[in-house]
Amino acid sequence: MRLAQRVSSIQPSATLSINAKAKALKAQGQQIISFGVGEPDFPTPHHIQQMAIQAIYRNQSRYTAVGGIDELKTAVADTIEADYGLRYTPEQVIVSCGGKQVLYNLMQVLLEPGDEALIPAPYWVSYPDLVTLAGATPVAVPCREQDGFKLTAERLESALTESSRMLILNSPCNPTGAHYSREELSRLAEVLRARQDLIIVSDDIYYRILFGGEPWCNLAMLDPQLRKRTVIVNGLSKTYAMTGWRIGYGLGDPAIIRAAVKIQSQSTSNPCSISQWAGVAALRGDQSEVKTMVASFEQRCRFVVDSLRSIPGVTCPQPAGAFYVFPNVSHYYGKQAQGYAVDSSLEMAEYLMEQAHIAVVPGGAFGEDRCIRLSYALAHEEIKEGLSRLAQALQELR
Ligand SMILES: Cc1ncc(COP(=O)(O)O)c(C=O)c1O
Repeated sequence: MRLAQRVSSIQPSATLSINAKAKALKAQGQQIISFGVGEPDFPTPHHIQQMAIQAIYRNQSRYTAVGGIDELKTAVADTIEADYGLRYTPEQVIVSCGGKQVLYNLMQVLLEPGDEALIPAPYWVSYPDLVTLAGATPVAVPCREQDGFKLTAERLESALTESSRMLILNSPCNPTGAHYSREELSRLAEVLRARQDLIIVSDDIYYRILFGGEPWCNLAMLDPQLRKRTVIVNGLSKTYAMTGWRIGYGLGDPAIIRAAVKIQSQSTSNPCSISQWAGVAALRGDQSEVKTMVASFEQRCRFVVDSLRSIPGVTCPQPAGAFYVFPNVSHYYGKQAQGYAVDSSLEMAEYLMEQAHIAVVPGGAFGEDRCIRLSYALAHEEIKEGLSRLAQALQELR
């Protein structure tokens, strides 16, 4: 069968593959502890579920406007005004099937062959492939562990070329949990101001999962000039434990949003009507469960980081948000145990899956092969058991 070349130009999502493998082993009866999942372990709050059920009974089950119902776009605009202090009109909002589709639409709308999209590494696995699918070139910009795996002004400056068209910034970051402070963003902004042709994609999908009372900030909030060419990507998956409902949203220049709606009109049309009504309840309703979830992630984060740092040779930057850790396990590369030689993050993930029965995602998929990613959105007992298996499996490598 002849398939289009673009299929072989991209990889299947590494996180989704690991989860599939972990599920298959579990189905065979193995006691796999999965640190692979990128989703909260809470149920969707009850009032959101109720709204969806009412939407079904009200027969709100027809096609909607492609870019989302007005009620949800207005709720998005009001939420962003409250949380970012920035006013957007509903015409500047698109609702899509997850933040991922917002990103897909944006790449299709903004990038052409020959364009480069700068992606600070470590990065979320899908960015390079989404850029490649648009025919453009993803350019990973390696960030140093001693900088908390964050992009610095110097690194940004040296990565920029004539062809640079886009910067994708994700804070808090998947996989590291790193969050850029206002001061750090201001230093990046100095470089970005000089490049008025550069579009900034600010992936803020974890912005409500921030620890220690850290104030939220992104590049659009720094000044009106940057705001004009920043597109905000966000969604309900992570904040409201709604990964399966598939509601994401984007905000930006009306011309970009209109073009994104045009692309969406020829792919999925509107996101699920029921999920959109549930989304209105999520954004307009009681936010106390979000606070409970964030407090729980913060507590688990402390335990996980302390445990990882107590393993000889393992370093782990302190996450400021999201629900991931990204420890550097390269101290154990070049070593062997139980017939396994481990020399890369992929081999490490395979070794851990087969020998310790824990699923982790290889850092190579995030552009940093020295690390592995663990999601700690699982029960405390499982985390404890999984980390003790990890510590033992690592120390058996010699
Ligand atoms: C950084 C980042 N951006 C975007 C997404 C997309 O999420 P969704 O499509 O569920 O909104 C994810 C999901 O894992 C993510 O980690």
